[in-house]
Amino acid sequence: MTQPLPDVVEVSWTVYSDRALRRRVAHGTVAASNLLGHSVHAVVRGLLPGRQYYFRFSALGRTSRVGRTRTAPVGPVSRVRFATANCQAFHDGFYAAHRGIATEDVDFVVHLGDYIYEHGQVGGHPVRDHEGPAILSLADYRRRYALYKGDPSLRASHAAHPWFLTWDDHECANDYSGTEGAAPFVARRAAAYQAWYENMPVRAGSALEPQLYRQRRWGDLLDLTVLDLRQYRSAQNLADGTILGTSQKKWLLDQISSSRDTWHCWINSIMLSQLARPGGGYYFTDQWDGFRAERAEVLGHVASSGMEDLVVVTGDWHSAFVDDIRPDFDNRDAPVIGTEFTAHSVTSGAYSAEWNTVNGPVMGAANPHLKYFEGNRYGYDVYEVTPQRWSTHMRVIGSRGDAASPVSTLTTFHVDRGKPGSYEDPGSVASPAQYRRV
Ligand SMILES: [Fe+2]
Repeated sequence: MTQPLPDVVEVSWTVYSDRALRRRVAHGTVAASNLLGHSVHAVVRGLLPGRQYYFRFSALGRTSRVGRTRTAPVGPVSRVRFATANCQAFHDGFYAAHRGIATEDVDFVVHLGDYIYEHGQVGGHPVRDHEGPAILSLADYRRRYALYKGDPSLRASHAAHPWFLTWDDHECANDYSGTEGAAPFVARRAAAYQAWYENMPVRAGSALEPQLYRQRRWGDLLDLTVLDLRQYRSAQNLADGTILGTSQKKWLLDQISSSRDTWHCWINSIMLSQLARPGGGYYFTDQWDGFRAERAEVLGHVASSGMEDLVVVTGDWHSAFVDDIRPDFDNRDAPVIGTEFTAHSVTSGAYSAEWNTVNGPVMGAANPHLKYFEGNRYGYDVYEVTPQRWSTHMRVIGSRGDAASPVSTLTTFHVDRGKPGSYEDPGSVASPAQYRRV
């Protein structure tokens, strides 16, 4: 049995500039309160840009493992590498993907959402068991985070790199919108958001209504725009519906208007590109397809403002897609204004191989902007960005049933600076996929 913690615990933190922890560059103490699950969000000042640092915490006579982080650079940058992860249902498998991310030479990691799943175990044959029903209360959500964060591969991924995060629906409830207007849901959402805030490496701020949307500059090479497509959205399929909400939309349009000449990466939890069904309608309107007027407004603004070199990275689908982004997806003559890479999931179940074989070509035929689809694998993406070229490496694992499953590169797509549209690396065009536009 573990001892209950005191209501407030003083936690000290120390930051070092070297792996051997000899050169201490910052330290402080912060109170960890039971009101926030004994979490801390230490604010460290005085670090230099573009440097690697190491840190650890101590409290109640115990010292944590050492974490590594990196500060964003300023000025000229010749290369950035980062990884994205999304959709990591615990019961669906082991985190070989995070084990891979922990060993990648990347500057940072981005989580695209579905960090936890709120539902109970749903049928099938779970790879890993966990407690039963859907979670509703703050105590429930805290226990679910504790379950996930007990995983050694996920812990290694956090310890190795700094993270940027957005969320999708399963951090709270499946396919929810905004507050859905009802008091029980408002209370559940507040519990979900608080537990997310307590457990995620995010800047100190509001626990009940965290502001996720932000822009971060990686020197002169990359502007990273983190979007929150859950907290402020209306219901889907409304003529005047919104996925961004009033304030975030104004902020995003302003970002686009004032964009500088660099790579622009949008951290986007759910698919931006149209995914039409043959014969009419859409596969899912919980994604941007359910907010078509706002999508047209945002992408039309990208086109008219002259912003170039837009790459959108996306989760949610549990399968990999590569799309050309057009301001009007129904108009094949509309210019390509960017590329969307939708990544494989870490573990969360995708469609069957049979479904993928049949529907890959069907989706390709109904969506002329869709260039690639692969749904039989699990993993993560690594992006390597230079002033001249963006490269997306799709990393895949051999098996979700093995935490030590080897990681390999399925394929690589490139985008050349100043030339809208992507192309697959000639060395991997023969790799397995269920749809490839040729
Ligand atoms: Fe998911």
